[in-house]
Amino acid sequence: PNAVLTLHPAFTVGPVRRRTFGSFVEHMGRCVYEGIYQPDHPSADEDGFRTDVLEMVRELGISTVRYPGGNFVSGYRWEDGVGPCEERPRRVEMAWHSVETNEFGLDEFMRWTKKAGVEPMMAVNLGTRGVQEACDLLEYANLRSGTHFADARIANGSAEPHNIRMWCLGNEMDGPWQIGHKTPEEYARLAAETGRAMRMIDPTLELVACGSSGPEIDTFGTWERAVLTEAYDQVDYISLHAYYQERDGDLGSFLASGVHMDRFIADVVAHCDHVRSVRRKEKRIMLSFDEWNVWYQTRFDTSGPPSDWVTAPPIAEDDYTVADAVVVGGLLISLLRNSDRVTAASQAQLVNVLGLIRTEPGEGPAWRQTIFHPFALTSAHARGQVLDVGIDAPRYDTVKYGEVPLVDAVATHDPETGALAVFAVNRDTERPVTLDLDLRAFEGSLGEGRLRVLHGDGDPHVVNDARDPERVLPAEGPAVRPVDGRAGVTLPPVSWSVLTFP
Ligand code: AHR
Repeated sequence: PNAVLTLHPAFTVGPVRRRTFGSFVEHMGRCVYEGIYQPDHPSADEDGFRTDVLEMVRELGISTVRYPGGNFVSGYRWEDGVGPCEERPRRVEMAWHSVETNEFGLDEFMRWTKKAGVEPMMAVNLGTRGVQEACDLLEYANLRSGTHFADARIANGSAEPHNIRMWCLGNEMDGPWQIGHKTPEEYARLAAETGRAMRMIDPTLELVACGSSGPEIDTFGTWERAVLTEAYDQVDYISLHAYYQERDGDLGSFLASGVHMDRFIADVVAHCDHVRSVRRKEKRIMLSFDEWNVWYQTRFDTSGPPSDWVTAPPIAEDDYTVADAVVVGGLLISLLRNSDRVTAASQAQLVNVLGLIRTEPGEGPAWRQTIFHPFALTSAHARGQVLDVGIDAPRYDTVKYGEVPLVDAVATHDPETGALAVFAVNRDTERPVTLDLDLRAFEGSLGEGRLRVLHGDGDPHVVNDARDPERVLPAEGPAVRPVDGRAGVTLPPVSWSVLTFP
């Protein structure tokens, strides 16, 4: 079958947002300890940060990193993680049933973000704590000097303020699993008052209210309306979270996960704009898709935490397949396509826990999971404007989402450099699809196109693992030379591709 993709530089969705390429570091499993931080590892630097992981973070082109949770943040006392290491308490960590040593905390994280070249995105605890503790943390992080917490930061070795711009007002407070879970009304009031107080300290902060932890939860919609009705003026963003997995061998539905993401985004935009209209507001609330990925939650749910009250147990260390990478590439297509409203996103999580990167316990190396590759290539090549492309693709039936297109695609164009990038997935599980590109609007300005394709050579379930970490890599396709503004590329079954000009 054939699909047709029509591109025109004048039809745009909005700018490519660097914050689309955010990730997430939670004190969960081996994400922090043995992930980004492991002082006894051969690659550790003077701060105990793994330099092999740092190099891969740079290669991924990560923009923001959300920290320190996740469910973890809802029971976290940030003061435990600052000051002399030997005085920091060991705590019972309820969210993931672990022991938190607090060896790594805010100041270590900030040093790490500088080395990684990423922007921090900090979450405050609105589970067991409230307005005062959020303001204390903000004072510690961002005030220059001359007050209790700012001076404590200086005494702890960070002379300059951390100057953190983006703050999440809690995490998944709609979820019954959350420590300090709230009703919509309870959370709405707390978020509004926390936001108001934090902005008394710094009116220029960018604040993210918790939206629903997913569209399937009973309170979806009611929650967004309650929160925004109360906190519209205090926040800039509302959050969305979604995780996908192949269930019961239904690969067709799984490959269409981007359809679910598009619909979820459209629904949240509707809820935001409903409140905007009713409350007669000028400002539009933006969307922070600050947790998204493939997660085999059914495996996780049945096994549970592997051990009781130990530090950094291995949790949710999924080995990702080619199909998972195709879905992750497809989710990035969806995020880019929605760049007019989704202006921040965080893939969850960076290392080991649902990780783009994996590390082996002990002295072993770090390696790239399959999902690393579409993330790194999309971050590297999405530049300039997201194009509002026309796609005419054959359709197929899915159990979960009905009829959906076999091919999904998006493109970005940088008017300054002329660079054009097309990102595409083929969801057909059996056959290749030819993607016919109508590039006539670019005639004359395009050179030769470079095609890179990720697929499993007939086995969509092949994985990278510690023994063979480079089994799945993007393969170089044939050079693409448009003739009269038209070109065709072959997309293998269950594949993700990027085509770049020049
Ligand atoms: O990313 C893993 C967990 O998923 C986070 O802690 C939580 O917010 C979500 O449910």
